[in-house]
Amino acid sequence: MALPVVVDSEYLKDVDKARRDLRALIANRNCAPLMLRLAWHDAGTYDAKTKTGGPNGSIRNEEEFCHGSNNGLKKAIDFCEEVKAKHPKITYADLYQLAGVVAVEVTGGPTIDFVPGRRDSKISPKEGRLPDAKQGVMHLRDIFYRMGLTDKDIVALSGGHTLGRAHPERSGFDGPWTEDPLKFDNSYFVELLRGDYDGLLKLPTDKALLDDPEFHRYVELYAKDEDAFFRDYAESHKKLSELGFVPS
Ligand code: HEM
Repeated sequence: MALPVVVDSEYLKDVDKARRDLRALIANRNCAPLMLRLAWHDAGTYDAKTKTGGPNGSIRNEEEFCHGSNNGLKKAIDFCEEVKAKHPKITYADLYQLAGVVAVEVTGGPTIDFVPGRRDSKISPKEGRLPDAKQGVMHLRDIFYRMGLTDKDIVALSGGHTLGRAHPERSGFDGPWTEDPLKFDNSYFVELLRGDYDGLLKLPTDKALLDDPEFHRYVELYAKDEDAFFRDYAESHKKLSELGFVPS
């Protein structure tokens, strides 16, 4: 059983300093997309039934970062290690989620409420809990419902693909989803509705958001109302970052 995390004023001060260091590091290395993907892949293994996986820092275990779906994330883990070395009290679980929150903020996205106190785990879930990009609507629901998330969360969080790109050597896919992959905005949804477009990527799981009426409704909303997207994204991201976490 992991030790409880004591979130006292010292811890909160360290979180604040780590937040600043992460801002600088993300700006210097231009790595906001990779940091967001790290936070999501640590959290997205959560299984609500067994209360296993989730944002517990376990992605730092070699066994887990070597999962195929985590290709490329060792680099983000190493970047975070630089911040951890300066603020050793902060748990990996908190640090990775803080990195995700900062990545969204510094690229122009919404402010996401961050509550510290996550415990670290040395136990990694078996491979296969993260979504497979080649699948469709049913698979998305299976994976996100397992985490305890909703249809709205699925669509809002998919908007995370407003940042970054796919790399052939990591996932076999190639290219960015939007014209400006370092700016967090609602262009992922605008492009999704625009259909296939030269040079921009749409994974089968992105296209699946158009296939289901409930998903489609949110895609339309977020494409035309960026404020609605930012509001829902901030809420869903907070939920994702706190799966299985009971703040003390
Ligand atoms: C990248 C799949 C959801 C954030 C990727 C890549 C794939 C993928 C295949 C390319 C990796 C590479 O080649 O480097 C999926 C699938 C999802 C999903 C199937 C199911 C809905 C999410 C969510 C977020 C997210 C919920 C965050 C809220 C990102 C980011 C990148 C990325 C920021 C770019 C990383 C970079 O530029 O290095 N995703 N993803 N994804 N994903 Fe997702």
